[in-house]
Amino acid sequence: MKITFRLILSLLIATVIVVAGFSCFEAKSEEKRLNEELRLRATVLAKTFKEAIETLLERTDQPSRIQKFIEKFQGHTRLIGLVVDMKDGQRIAFPPHLSREDWFKKESMKVMDENLPLDLNSHWDGRKVNYHAVPLIRDGQVVGALGLIHDRTFIVLQIRQFWKNSALTFSILAGILSIVSLLVIRWNVTGPISRIASMIHKNLGMESATSRGIQQQGEIEKLLYGVVHMAASLKAARLDLVEQSRLANERGSIWTKERLKDYLKTKFRDKQFYVVSNREPYIHRRNGNGIECITPASGVVTALDPVMQATGGMWIAHGAGNADQESVDAENKVRVPPWKPSFTLKRVWLSPEEEQGYYYGFSNEGIWPLCHISHVRPVFRMEDWNYYKEVNRKFANAILEEFGDEPPIVLVQDYHFALLPRMIKERRPDAKVALFWHIPWPNAEAFGICPWQEEILEGMLGSDMIGFHTQFHCNNFLDTVDRALESKINWTNFEVTRGGKKSTVRSFPVSVSGAPNVAVQETDRDPLEQLRQDYGLKGKKIGIGVDRIDYTKGLLERFWAIERVLEKYPYLQGELVFVELGAPSRTLIGSYQSHLKEVEKLIEKINQRFQKGHYRPILFLEGHHGQKRIFDFYRLADFCLVSSLHDGMNLVAKEFVSAREDEDGVLILSRFAGASYELSSALLVNPYGIEGTAEAIHQALTMLPEERKERMRKMRSIVKEHNIYRWAADMITELVRSF
Ligand code: G6P
Repeated sequence: MKITFRLILSLLIATVIVVAGFSCFEAKSEEKRLNEELRLRATVLAKTFKEAIETLLERTDQPSRIQKFIEKFQGHTRLIGLVVDMKDGQRIAFPPHLSREDWFKKESMKVMDENLPLDLNSHWDGRKVNYHAVPLIRDGQVVGALGLIHDRTFIVLQIRQFWKNSALTFSILAGILSIVSLLVIRWNVTGPISRIASMIHKNLGMESATSRGIQQQGEIEKLLYGVVHMAASLKAARLDLVEQSRLANERGSIWTKERLKDYLKTKFRDKQFYVVSNREPYIHRRNGNGIECITPASGVVTALDPVMQATGGMWIAHGAGNADQESVDAENKVRVPPWKPSFTLKRVWLSPEEEQGYYYGFSNEGIWPLCHISHVRPVFRMEDWNYYKEVNRKFANAILEEFGDEPPIVLVQDYHFALLPRMIKERRPDAKVALFWHIPWPNAEAFGICPWQEEILEGMLGSDMIGFHTQFHCNNFLDTVDRALESKINWTNFEVTRGGKKSTVRSFPVSVSGAPNVAVQETDRDPLEQLRQDYGLKGKKIGIGVDRIDYTKGLLERFWAIERVLEKYPYLQGELVFVELGAPSRTLIGSYQSHLKEVEKLIEKINQRFQKGHYRPILFLEGHHGQKRIFDFYRLADFCLVSSLHDGMNLVAKEFVSAREDEDGVLILSRFAGASYELSSALLVNPYGIEGTAEAIHQALTMLPEERKERMRKMRSIVKEHNIYRWAADMITELVRSF
């Protein structure tokens, strides 16, 4: 509309100038013409009167005769009157009721003196007049002067009328011009501009919240906005091409922290990057009088921390440490890791009731057992569900208040936040949201027992992309959506469309960075030697297990297998030590407490059964273990046993492989862990089959070094190539595909 208004206004101004110019010129000419006409008329009349008066002057000396003659002509419409002055000073005639007699006398004298006619335009008695005077001659001598006073007001009125007509003509012209211009502009200018602008906006996906402000702008502004974005997007595409060709050149080479950093720079440019998870990557806790910062045992943290250290951005998580509050600033933020601050951790505080309902209750007594086939019955309580919703909302608010104007990118982590993607999207439709589900997704029947499955699925489908570790979990998810919700499923592209909103579902097997996420301090002593010494492991065959103490990890099955191998191969008694680094987890939940008790009891029983002097077959190191220590144990072990009954991925398996730079050590891996799809060179076991696992342990201990090396090499090359940086890059590539 702005452009139309501006164009019409300019057109009207131009028309005013032209019309006014012409009218001015015409008015002047008309005025000149009328004056000329009046002058001619005065001249002719003066000549006629002059002859008559001169004749009267010759015949008689009686001024009264002349006065009588003149009176007949005084006060006519345009001829106001006649003035006759004689040379001797006598005034014979003058129009009655007129003032300024002297002025006329003076002008008459001038005519008589010069013996020449006079024509003057002047103001008189508030009127415009014309005074035309001629000399009166008798006997060849000037005897007087005759003056005719004409009213010129009619000229003024005629010119005024002319201007009125011009103004009317201009108004009609302006009206017609405006309507015609409006139509012409609409058809030929703004219409096409608007169509081009909306085409550009649509193609660039700019019908979002940020571009909403521009909708109120004029067509040109919209086009300009679109063109600017198109230029930016062309630039981005060019950069992308450069990047693609760079990546193509590097194809086959390994994704590193630096490469991911570079890649994200080209992909994200100015976009803000957020990660949301329940578990925080760094926990501050009191240790005596001081505060220590630890990395918790969590697959999410193991995976995401190196990514965030590479990319920077903000990680929003529950502040669960007892010194967390003391370690943040006024906005609940702290830069981490403490030894090399690379990203911001924003902590969200939960009340004990919220933590109980949302975390222990709904997340870990409901969804966790629901998604893991480990024969622990899920519990669904209404009040837990209400807290789950409330805490999801709390996190949504915490993240939304961080967003700037640019469309943000949010990676939501895990089953604690199924509702978060929709909550974010409702308030910021321009945000790109991915949800990564780190645990398995069961089949549709199994998931269907959740009383709030529709709400959970709805919440998840707020994401632009939903990621699982395996294609099998993707298929289960799509199947669940298919059965539970009215939606369109594209099984070729693995997409769900509901209410016009599309979510892609993809598998991205999560991985590790290849190194512990800690600052490693060099020590003089060989750390492995130190461990052997500290735990009496010298000369022993060592097995390692690293787990949160969780019923899904198959700990009982694992120790039954250890017992069985010692039973079946007695020469291993006194020889084999299995070290279990067990981190207590979710200890407020009954099923976890009873599981821990069962595990401790079983270990105690097995240790009692096979103990010899100081020898105990199972070394249960219960507590939190730093990553450096865990990596040292990995490197010390002859084999690592991962016996999950059901696991999304299990990063312990991958960590063990990446820690073995010596290309030695055997991985025994449950076929029910997602990692078994990639690490097929491990000894794959069914953890429920105790005999089979025991045999695998024996096989690992008796395997020829060449075979160990061969298997480890294969697995290392897989983990090296499919590392966490590649996982992040693949996921982000998929997510930004729709930008
Ligand atoms: C699994 C989940 C993670 C979780 C971790 C530790 O790996 O997928 O989201 O952080 O377990 O559990 P916790 O309850 O201690 O965070």
